[in-house]
Amino acid sequence: MHKRVYIFDTTLRDGEQAPGFSMTTEEKLQMAQQLARLGVDVIEAGFAVASKGDFEAVNRIAQEVEGPVICSLARAIEKDIEVAAKALEPAERRRIHTFIATSEIHMKYKLKMEPDKVLERAVSAVRFARNFTDDVEFSCEDATRSQRDFLYKIIEEVIKAGATVINIPDTVGYAIPEEFGELISDIMNNVPNIDKVILSVHCHDDLGLAVANSLTAVKHGARQVECTVNGIGERAGNAALEEVVMALKVRGDYFGGLYTNINTKEIYKSSRLLCRITGSFVPPNKAIVGDNAFAHESGIHQHGVLSHRLTYEIINAEDVGFPASRRIVLGKHSGRHALKQKLEEYGVKYTDEDVDRIYEKLKSLADKKKEIYDEDVEALIYQEFMKISDEEPVRVEHFQVQSGDNLMPTATVKLYYKGEERTATATGNGPVDATIKAIQKALDLSPKLLDYSIKALTPNTDAQAEARVVLELDGVKASGRGVDTDIIKASVNAFVDALNRAIMRKEYILQRTELREEGTV
Ligand code: KIV
Ligand code: ZN
Repeated sequence: MHKRVYIFDTTLRDGEQAPGFSMTTEEKLQMAQQLARLGVDVIEAGFAVASKGDFEAVNRIAQEVEGPVICSLARAIEKDIEVAAKALEPAERRRIHTFIATSEIHMKYKLKMEPDKVLERAVSAVRFARNFTDDVEFSCEDATRSQRDFLYKIIEEVIKAGATVINIPDTVGYAIPEEFGELISDIMNNVPNIDKVILSVHCHDDLGLAVANSLTAVKHGARQVECTVNGIGERAGNAALEEVVMALKVRGDYFGGLYTNINTKEIYKSSRLLCRITGSFVPPNKAIVGDNAFAHESGIHQHGVLSHRLTYEIINAEDVGFPASRRIVLGKHSGRHALKQKLEEYGVKYTDEDVDRIYEKLKSLADKKKEIYDEDVEALIYQEFMKISDEEPVRVEHFQVQSGDNLMPTATVKLYYKGEERTATATGNGPVDATIKAIQKALDLSPKLLDYSIKALTPNTDAQAEARVVLELDGVKASGRGVDTDIIKASVNAFVDALNRAIMRKEYILQRTELREEGTV
């Protein structure tokens, strides 16, 4: 059996379905370009039939992203498959991923269908999908709770109908590694035509076992792993791409030389980009991409690592593109050339005017703080190139705050809401609270603030602060980030970023509600 393990990335589909992670088309496109640089084999770009926005995102990615196979999800319904095929038309290589539930509980209560009908539907969906592409994946939703004989039967029949990849999802994150490995072996041994396809797995992390289950499956013969950057996804998420890939690489000895084609040096950047786009953080102790993943705090560990890196480090931080140390990258007198190099490193398409504009911003930042670090440049690049839209609903023109140890913090803001000028003044517990209250008053909106945090991006008191806000507006959750040397401005930027995302997502999410109510994924 071949040693290559294909990486099927579903950050933009399963990942994006999770609350707080939905992305606009532009954002999905940026992420897809980064996934192509990362070297994933397949990008599941969305669920084309779910909404106009999903269709547009799949279609733009199919048009503009070169390298990976571009895939769309589709229920085992002709209409879904047709829409997926239409969205994928411009792709060099395209895959239709169709699915239907195979467990008794799903068939009886969700689909309200007899197993025979489910089998018939699966076979005709695969056959229909083959009219549009030679690359058709079939998933048995809730496979780990499905009855074995039925699973073998449906897999055998969809392979006869033309499926080229069979995916075994642990939809509810219920499996235990040994048991999941056995399931994969059983499928390999009981489905007579299984050697004609690539066997894939798709594990959810409800019991924290998604990566362990995926790796065990690979050990038992699966050759495609479905995963997401930072492990985002429905509920507790999916298997984290970076963990699966690095486990296979670092423990090649255990996995008998299995390998992926991932350019691991792009891992950290992919993780950061996703955080930037979705306004989320990964926990500091997150494997591979967390801030502390390569930090050695205890004296014994530090001494060990200094004597020989391998005493306490199994991965070289640079192998995953983790910044080796906080490097001072640009000073007040560094040139445009260095800036262009940075933009290229981040894979950004820029014009000469972009370089001039960012260069001016960097110079004024260098006036405020002595040293400019990688993190500062990264924040500026994301700020400039990753706006959610050129027409953000809320734009703060100006704010002013008074605060001191014997003063009631008071803020005044002037802003534009959908082009209309508004002003307001408010008091609060502190200067940040007063300013946020003034913004809410001017907008006449009362989002629920779920989380607010702020941290320095780099050392010293002149550092830029990075603020993060998570809020909920009429049931729509969104997170935002803001960066500035002024902590109040960083907080305002983060709040407005989150608010704009919530406002813009409301309509987009509403379009999907109908499908969810039908019980799709
Ligand atoms: O978790 C799941 O079962 C899925 C399928 C649609 C592959 O996301
Ligand atoms: Zn899933």
